[in-house]
Amino acid sequence: MVAERGSDGGGLIAPGIDTTRPSIARVYDLFLGGKDNYESDRALYRQIVEIAPETPVWARENRRWLGRVIAYLARQARISQFLDAGSGLPTAENTHQIAQRHDPEVKVVYVDNDPSVITHGQALLVDNESTQFAAADLTDVCQVLTEPAVTKLIDFDRPVAVLLAMVLHHIEDIQDARRIVAEYADALPSGSYLAISHAVNPRDGSEADGLATAIEARFKPFFPTLTPRTPAEIATLFDGLDLVDPGLVRLFDWRHQTDEDLPDLRPAAAHLLYGAVARKP
Ligand SMILES: C[S@@+](CC[C@H](N)C(=O)[O-])C[C@H]1O[C@@H](n2cnc3c(N)ncnc32)[C@H](O)[C@@H]1O
Repeated sequence: MVAERGSDGGGLIAPGIDTTRPSIARVYDLFLGGKDNYESDRALYRQIVEIAPETPVWARENRRWLGRVIAYLARQARISQFLDAGSGLPTAENTHQIAQRHDPEVKVVYVDNDPSVITHGQALLVDNESTQFAAADLTDVCQVLTEPAVTKLIDFDRPVAVLLAMVLHHIEDIQDARRIVAEYADALPSGSYLAISHAVNPRDGSEADGLATAIEARFKPFFPTLTPRTPAEIATLFDGLDLVDPGLVRLFDWRHQTDEDLPDLRPAAAHLLYGAVARKP
């Protein structure tokens, strides 16, 4: 198939990319200040920031959390293999850049099933022998783990870190989300890690519940499976694993350096993203 010229800004649109509907990868990238988006993405972006102007702060905090997690895993836990599932569009500080800054030999495989991400991910990595991209559905764990891009770099006899950042809230049924995490954990040797960040709805009638429910309602027509969860529900994803200190907390409370690093958010907006890192015993 041949790339076509788009009507929306004149750029080339790779085959498989639907510009008429928002893509979660592109909308999220827009929150991060990215440039790879179309009017359908921008229309949803405007709807979300209208009710939650802090959304770009959340996206940035998630990337900062991910940066701290990768640095911890590479430096302190001595992990040298990463599987970044639901990796998103390449942005400023990607997993391989952070991990390979610590050790250029660290192996990183990205996994995503969005055509925009696949096109950009494959282009970004052509010259990097230690980094691969697998176009796959992360919910099919068996398929992911047998992808040539994965088996080429990852040695499943040595510890691996699986990153599932801001993606499991796209799995509607919590049993499915638990099954996915458990299948990744089961496939990894002892001493491996799983890192998860997840959208929260406290579902307690509070102002934060109202804000999360309003955001959910704007996303749902396009992403019907979107399911923010309570922290107690998210905690069950880590069953059978050992949580690394400080456990499951707001993303910016996870090993931040100084209090100046904390974002200035209104109270209702300060509790809607949680994350944790866990070790397979
Ligand atoms: C909100 S973005 C998060 C990107 C990145 N993990 C981060 O935290 O910055 C979610 C990503 O997950 C991808 N995704 C969602 N469901 C997926 C699935 N079933 N298989 C593979 N990728 C998926 C989307 O295409 C998107 O790129």
